[in-house]
Amino acid sequence: MNSVTVSTLNQYVDQEVELKGWLYNRRGSGKLLFLQFRDGTGIVQVVVSKKEVAEEVFEAARRIGIESSITVRGKVSKDDRSPIGVEVHGSDLQVMQEVHDYPIQISEDVPNIDKLLDQRHLWVRSRVPRAILKVRSEVVQAIRDFYYERGFVLYDAPIITPASCEGVSTLFEVPYFEETAYLTQSGQLYGETGAMAFGKVVVFGPTFRAEKSKTRRHLTEFWMVEPEVAFLELDGIMDLAEQQIQYVVNRALERCKFELNELERDTSILEQVSKPFPRVHYEEAQKVLQKLKADFAESDDEELKKLSGDILKQGLGADLGAADETALGMHYKQCVCIHHYPREVKAFYMKPDETGKYALGVDVIAPEGVGEIVGGGQREDDLAALEAQIKKHNVPPESIDWYVDLRKYGSVPHGGFGMGVERCVQWITGCRHVRETIPFPRTINRTKP
Ligand code: 4AD
Ligand code: MG
Repeated sequence: MNSVTVSTLNQYVDQEVELKGWLYNRRGSGKLLFLQFRDGTGIVQVVVSKKEVAEEVFEAARRIGIESSITVRGKVSKDDRSPIGVEVHGSDLQVMQEVHDYPIQISEDVPNIDKLLDQRHLWVRSRVPRAILKVRSEVVQAIRDFYYERGFVLYDAPIITPASCEGVSTLFEVPYFEETAYLTQSGQLYGETGAMAFGKVVVFGPTFRAEKSKTRRHLTEFWMVEPEVAFLELDGIMDLAEQQIQYVVNRALERCKFELNELERDTSILEQVSKPFPRVHYEEAQKVLQKLKADFAESDDEELKKLSGDILKQGLGADLGAADETALGMHYKQCVCIHHYPREVKAFYMKPDETGKYALGVDVIAPEGVGEIVGGGQREDDLAALEAQIKKHNVPPESIDWYVDLRKYGSVPHGGFGMGVERCVQWITGCRHVRETIPFPRTINRTKP
């Protein structure tokens, strides 16, 4: 008897197998039961016929509740209606633990997300979360492979830090013995130390933001991949971001076909990812947005009308908002790089362009309503200019003197970016809310389970 997994069942057609897992669902009654059996690698239908099995086996198959843990034996047969191409004709079933009060109804995969999130420790067993988290796993592996294949050194940044990277308004404070420390918002400043030591590094780890906003794009704990490269300037940074996104999306399209199909994801826009990303100056983006605002205002579509009202809400010359990013995504129908944001809306470490008005920064905006998935740019490499910025942004100098040292000892042009893993997975899987892309999401009102 072969002890196998659902994912490899199609190699065992006409053979007897043993499967260990859980009862996912059940249909049928009377004489014929159709068990949906899952083992973590997939779901297969096990047909149990009263005629063909011992009486107590049929009785157990009829009686046990969803998520009972079981061992099933049977013969694999081809089945064209099955998503995995096979089903199992059950001959025996042993119950490890019989369950009768599993709190999640299978039909609840979509509605009442809040209730399901309370049960996240169990909900991860269901089809939809499983598919999304499987894609996440592939995305993370693709990220690691991309940088490894290109000779980047993995460079872990600390989680507990003395300084803010992305402004004090979203800092989580941690009592640290006699001092105060913070959870890191970004590993970038440490990544820069690594770029000067190794040339090309990648920081990859959890980051934290005390985001008070309840949007479908914000978590308080999320994973960020942050390459940082010496001698790389804005154009090169955009090249790297484009290549990395293309690599990751193509990998998911290749290796997560089954999952994307389970999620009923229309992949047509994702398949456009290999085309060059339009690179649009912030000023040009503002013009595009003004036009979209006017066009959408005249639309008969209520949603577009509403979006029109939210476009450029923060005013011309300000940072882009969620509606602006959504509109740009609709316009370009592809990832787009918006570069040269006004200096005032960007962080202290950004290098300005020759006009002094704009920052040599770039955001990559994903289409389909996801918005910014990458933020980055070229860093201020001049000592005096950096010191002036630190002062202007009220960054406590003693928390960041080590970072300033990089501009004293062999300063070079350099830069990088950060990509939020969850936003990327959100786009690839097409799920509405970013909280579904991480096993245990942390948001303003959720620290459990
Ligand atoms: O644009 P951000 O704030 O950039 C930085 O932190 C830079 N220091 C990165 C760098 O240059 N090394 O964040 C980068 C990305 C965003 O584009 C987004 O994908 C993700 O991190 N992100 C979030 N994802 C989920 N929830 C949040 N609250 C996020 N905030 C940022
Ligand atoms: Mg940003």
